Amino acid sequence: MRIPLIAGNWKMNTTLSEAIELVSQMRPELEKIGNVDRVICPPFVSLAALKELLEGSSIKLGAQNLYFETRGAYTGEISPLMLADLCDYVIIGHSERRQYFNESGELINKKVKAALKVGLTPVLCIGEGLAENEAGKTEAVLAAQLDSSSEREYYSGGLVLAYEPVWAIGTGKAASGEQANETIGFIRQHISRQHGQGTAQQVRILYGGSVTADNIAEFINQPEIDGALVGGASLKAGDFLSIVKQTSEVK
Ligand code: 13P
Repeated sequence: MRIPLIAGNWKMNTTLSEAIELVSQMRPELEKIGNVDRVICPPFVSLAALKELLEGSSIKLGAQNLYFETRGAYTGEISPLMLADLCDYVIIGHSERRQYFNESGELINKKVKAALKVGLTPVLCIGEGLAENEAGKTEAVLAAQLDSSSEREYYSGGLVLAYEPVWAIGTGKAASGEQANETIGFIRQHISRQHGQGTAQQVRILYGGSVTADNIAEFINQPEIDGALVGGASLKAGDFLSIVKQTSEVK
């Protein structure tokens, strides 16, 4: 049995006071919802305050990125060790980081390894672009991303995957539930071929890309989909709560 997971990726949104306000709004209800792992991924600068606010809560925090080195002369970077003190999860390899910050599979692999080493749960994002999708290259792209950025031992460390087709992110054009289920099924098969059926059956794979309170049911009703990585809708307390509640009722 894979426990469903809903994670909110706030991206580069919210000041410290807005972050505190949003979590304060959601906390009472969000805390009560059982059998779904709930994760909030605010900007780095709000992690410490939100950690304090969520002391003793079942709601978990995640970061949106990290660097793979532990410490040193890397101006502007944040290390796994720093995050291990502040949160439980970290999003790695988001398409926005691949696209705007030129993150390669090799770099992403180092980040996932470094996160696991300090006990953080990485949420590794993979997904094809529109042109790749239209050219029928989705499976090849996903297989290459998986092969370059994950290794067998990462799965036993609790690695979570998020399938986020780039054409569905922030566009309002989500994949259909069937489409997402089929592609996540492919990802699971690929993991099964590489690392065995047991590993493939245990790994949680989320869908991400224009998930809303109106379409979440479509995804979580699918057998291969274990939850969602939510962008825009995670910035609205009511929408995020509704997404988590619906997931808890279905899964
Ligand atoms: P949206 O839900 O805003 O499309 O963003 C998805 C995403 O990129 C989550 O990581």
